[in-house]
Amino acid sequence: MGDDQTGGKCHMCDAAIRIEGLRKTYRGGKGQPEKHALKGINLTVPRGSVFGLLGPNGAGKSTLINILAGLVVKSAGRVAIWGFDQDQNPRQSRSAIGVMPQELNLDPFFTPRGALEVQAGLYGVPKSERRSDQILELVGLSDKAEAYARTLSGGMRRRLLLAKALVHHPKILVLDEPTAGVDIELRQMLWANVRKLNERGMTIILTTHYLEEAQEMCDEIAIINHGEKVAQDSTANLLGRMDSRTMVIVPDSPIIDLPVSEGVEAALRDDGSLVLQYRNIQTSAEQVLESVRAANIRIRDVRTEEADLEDVFLALTSSRTEDHPADDKDQPRRGIHRVKL
Ligand SMILES: Nc1ncnc2c1ncn2[C@@H]1O[C@H](COP(=O)(O)OP(=O)(O)OP(=O)(O)O)[C@@H](O)[C@H]1O
Ligand SMILES: [Mg+2]
Repeated sequence: MGDDQTGGKCHMCDAAIRIEGLRKTYRGGKGQPEKHALKGINLTVPRGSVFGLLGPNGAGKSTLINILAGLVVKSAGRVAIWGFDQDQNPRQSRSAIGVMPQELNLDPFFTPRGALEVQAGLYGVPKSERRSDQILELVGLSDKAEAYARTLSGGMRRRLLLAKALVHHPKILVLDEPTAGVDIELRQMLWANVRKLNERGMTIILTTHYLEEAQEMCDEIAIINHGEKVAQDSTANLLGRMDSRTMVIVPDSPIIDLPVSEGVEAALRDDGSLVLQYRNIQTSAEQVLESVRAANIRIRDVRTEEADLEDVFLALTSSRTEDHPADDKDQPRRGIHRVKL
């Protein structure tokens, strides 16, 4: 996590991004119903953080990011970027953020250097403050500075998109799936750049479907699903929830009564095995086994499973269909109801 205290002034203590009640409804096409892509999202991104925005396909991540970027118009809610309200101070809020979009939308007739100059012009960066060559070097495109964008490979286009997001020296850099479909070298380059920029004080917001990456890179993570935020916490705390252990028991005969024990959540899988979840710090494996014996369950086989970010993610996003919202949304979440099929 970077240093928050750079400015010392009160407004510097503000968040990098503050989102309140953000909604986006896309109008439906011919005969199609409208689409509620964001359903009232509240989100605060701390300054100096590397912040992960995770969620399954169609969750609303790009919609949210494109609203931040000014590419999509929100239906309702408030967005403040680096303390500037997007509606009241559109220019300042826009210049505080640089976005590398998910779509490879490049003008094929510009060279990388040309594209950066145009972008700098759009953002009103004076000639004396332009750093096109430095940025091209940072993203490893120096030798392609004069090549036409249409001749660049997919990975090179991504590099150029990153470069474009950096030209106006934004306080916040947003990366929408920067590593989707890129090779290992580019992925490592991207993450090395992200680290470097973050160490220099830039706030980073990223989406990725590679949860190991998120686990490794992010200080804090929000998970959205069907347009709603289902979790936000420090990565450490999210994984801490995952201090939850899972014991899977294959019983000798079908189970009639589930074992009951404080701190242990029991559920049956479709295959008849018994899944027991408990927190490692509160409950010992021995206690769990005792509760199983007390319920007269004879154990044919037993194994334990450890959890990672993927488990948290699956637990929070596993309701796949729109008409079947996540269960017990109004109930406080106790533990993680994770039943892998
Ligand atoms: N321009 C549009 N018109 C209508 N519906 C849209 C439009 N853009 C996105 N949607 C819908 O809004 C929902 C959210 O899409 P969005 O692109 O924000 O998801 P995402 O979380 O970025 O997914 P992915 O992981 O696949 O990139 C989806 O159901 C999508 O079909
Ligand atoms: Mg997306």
